[in-house]
Amino acid sequence: RINPIIDPFGRTIDYLRISVTDRCDFRCTYCMAENMNFLPKKDLLTLEELHRLAATFIALGVKKIRLTGGEPLVRKNVMQLIRDLSHYLETGVLEELTLTTNGSQLTRHAAELAHCGVKRINVSMDTLDADKFREITRWGDLQRVQEGIAAAQAAGIKIKINAVALKGFNENEIPELLRWAHGEGMDLTLIETMPMGEVNADRTDQYLPLSLVRARLSDQFTLADIAYKTGGPARYVMVEETGGKLGFITPMTHNFCESCNRVRLTCTGTLFMCLGQEDAADLRTPLRASGDNDLLMQAIEKAIARKPKGHDFIIDRRTRTPSVSRHMSMTGG
Ligand code: GTP
Ligand code: 5AD
Ligand code: SF4
Repeated sequence: RINPIIDPFGRTIDYLRISVTDRCDFRCTYCMAENMNFLPKKDLLTLEELHRLAATFIALGVKKIRLTGGEPLVRKNVMQLIRDLSHYLETGVLEELTLTTNGSQLTRHAAELAHCGVKRINVSMDTLDADKFREITRWGDLQRVQEGIAAAQAAGIKIKINAVALKGFNENEIPELLRWAHGEGMDLTLIETMPMGEVNADRTDQYLPLSLVRARLSDQFTLADIAYKTGGPARYVMVEETGGKLGFITPMTHNFCESCNRVRLTCTGTLFMCLGQEDAADLRTPLRASGDNDLLMQAIEKAIARKPKGHDFIIDRRTRTPSVSRHMSMTGG
């Protein structure tokens, strides 16, 4: 089957994000609460089941797969899934296999990831200050992440750094992050915090609109809009002074839902049609009901047929409850 899946708003859905675990070895304060209840391990789909789901999506026209978490590299034996999925790259039915990681386990996995055809990964890093890094991740070791990045680069993998722009935390450090990332040959994307899940901080205190960040950066740097597209939501500029690319992910100030091309699968087999909505479809039942994939394909098509137009995120002092009750770590963003 070659026909891609098209949603009710005419958007082609060819990008699947798979959260392989809800667990993480960090607890970023904007992402998770201090005391998180993780899913019992028995509720997880096996890696074989995740492979079968991914294969079904590929048969339905998915061209890009991103593994996320939690932290994808803390899922036991995740490399087996990556090896399995790499065969679809070899046959050309899949165009990109990639992941979004916190970098803590990269040193160990970099060479094999490269061997599996992973060409580009996104590493989350919100600050270059080791103490602040420990504060925002609640205990992460910056040096270890930087070693992971170096190992991935040495293996030939291109890195994009993700930084969530946070008021009073890293807002003054953004020029430095930019110079560092570009100096190391990496792109940087800045992200507006999204109101997902109860965390220990008030998102109205953390939220920093990227329109403001961009205006401030324009005082120091020459930013030229470019048409660079990764299939993700960032809008990119070229920074003349550094020669690197800077992306802005602006769900709050400028939503990009009209060009949405993705759905998200969790490690329990739940499909979310939109990051910013509660609606979800159960794929585990049709997955386990039968050994052939017909029921599953029907369930996927039915789910995508109700993909909403966009998210309803709001960050407002009057609305203390997050727009979406699940944490970012359920779907990996
Ligand atoms: P590439 O463009 O392929 O490099 O990836 P990406 O930047 O889209 O993916 P990544 O996993 O690194 O996510 C970066 C940020 O974008 C995270 O905060 C995600 O939650 C956010 N993001 C990705 N897709 C969507 C989306 O469809 N809607 C919203 N609101 N945010 C998204
Ligand atoms: N809002 C925006 N981005 C978030 N991330 C985690 N939680 C949030 C949030 N509430 C980012 C991480 C990582 C990516 C998967 O999502 O920093 O880069
Ligand atoms: Fe872990 Fe990423 Fe969430 Fe931080 S943002 S707690 S690294 S999943």
